[in-house]
Amino acid sequence: MARLRLGVLISGRGSNLQSIIDACAAPGFPAEVALVLSNVPGVFGLDRAAKAGIPCTVVNHKDYADRPSFEAVVDAVLCEAGVQLVCLAGFMRLLTEGFVSRWHDRLINIHPALLPAFPGLHTHERALAAGVRFAGCTVHFVRSGTDDGPIIVQAAVPVLDGDTPDALAARILEQEHRIYPHAIRLFAEGRIRVSDGRVHVAGARPCTGALVNPPL
Ligand code: GRF
Repeated sequence: MARLRLGVLISGRGSNLQSIIDACAAPGFPAEVALVLSNVPGVFGLDRAAKAGIPCTVVNHKDYADRPSFEAVVDAVLCEAGVQLVCLAGFMRLLTEGFVSRWHDRLINIHPALLPAFPGLHTHERALAAGVRFAGCTVHFVRSGTDDGPIIVQAAVPVLDGDTPDALAARILEQEHRIYPHAIRLFAEGRIRVSDGRVHVAGARPCTGALVNPPL
């Protein structure tokens, strides 16, 4: 069966991109990276794409007068590459309503927090300041609000005594690298349906057990 064609949008180091590339390399994975697009020239994620032999391109937002003209080029490049699902992976540009609605339910993002808690930047600092006992990450469909949209997969990790933002970020990032490929697989297998702003996953095993922190 034809594999789902992914367009991965990045702005930086691309560790989530790498997890997607690695997942796609596994036999039987139902998706492939058709294109990597960065809005920032020279970032390490582009080297990762090149090393994997994946077509990559830079569309530098600074070369465009406004967001719509930047996004028109991004859109054209994605369409040209036959992209079927757009995956934001550390892509640090806000997207306009026009772009988001054009790719409605075909545009997903990963965010390093348990949404709807802590949208936006500095999530780890804010989670530590709030004293939450669990943190985590979320893959979700993109809507026009910041880090808003139907949730596909989440992973939770404990916050530990003495955590620094970097330590917590590293614990969460490890889970990001697991759940982004998982969400892509579910989408590619046609198991995801969105209704009333919520995601329904066909054939998923129930998630059982509870995490308690500090442990009982
Ligand atoms: C990740 O933490 C992701 O959740 C957030 O930006 C970071 C990107 O990291 N949206 P990388 O470029 O994938 O390593």
